[in-house]
Amino acid sequence: MFFARWLRDPRGMGSVVPSGRTLALAMAEPAAKAYKTPILELGGGTGTVTEALLECGLDPNDLIVFERDVQLHRHLEQRFPQVRVVLGDAAHADRVLAQMGVEAVGGVVSSLPLLSMPLLTRRRILGSAFRCLGPEGFLLQFTYGPVSPLPDRMLSNLGLRGRAIDRVWRNVPPATVWRYERHPFTAAVVPRPSP
Ligand SMILES: C[S@@+](CC[C@H](N)C(=O)[O-])C[C@H]1O[C@@H](n2cnc3c(N)ncnc32)[C@H](O)[C@@H]1O
Repeated sequence: MFFARWLRDPRGMGSVVPSGRTLALAMAEPAAKAYKTPILELGGGTGTVTEALLECGLDPNDLIVFERDVQLHRHLEQRFPQVRVVLGDAAHADRVLAQMGVEAVGGVVSSLPLLSMPLLTRRRILGSAFRCLGPEGFLLQFTYGPVSPLPDRMLSNLGLRGRAIDRVWRNVPPATVWRYERHPFTAAVVPRPSP
């Protein structure tokens, strides 16, 4: 299924194969330990990271997944009937969550193919994600590239900072997991939600 979707939209899928299990767990473990719930997953795809999050102990009612591909969205709904799966663009996650009555999320886990997206799209997605996140919230993103998929300048403009927290050699190709959070000492452009 993933390969068929890749043939139709290689840039939107970002990879020929779904995330490997080791990589999915490297993303899911820190997210499942988040101080607050719910957790927001962006780009659910076939559900490898979704499954890993549940395996790490996250309650399915505490997970919201965004997927913009209609077929993958249907697949995720059928595979995880207790999880709220939204058919939509990650760039609008803040507005959609507000309509759903979700005030803030504790963490965002993203498998989005950021490197194949224009910088403006990346900035929109990042801004939307951090408007959803509570004060202590963080965003996890994996990349196959050698550096952060979110440039330093974009991060500092938004009052954010990032660091690589894991290198998954056993994934094909090897991947790095990045963690982004609000910078404590700068005035954030992305508003901080009230605690
Ligand atoms: C690398 S794949 C997902 C990998 C997933 N962890 C898996 O194992 O199947 C990226 C996913 O992000 C979705 N996607 C791409 N851009 C999106 C956007 N702007 N909003 C929501 N989903 C998006 C694609 O449809 C695709 O399913």
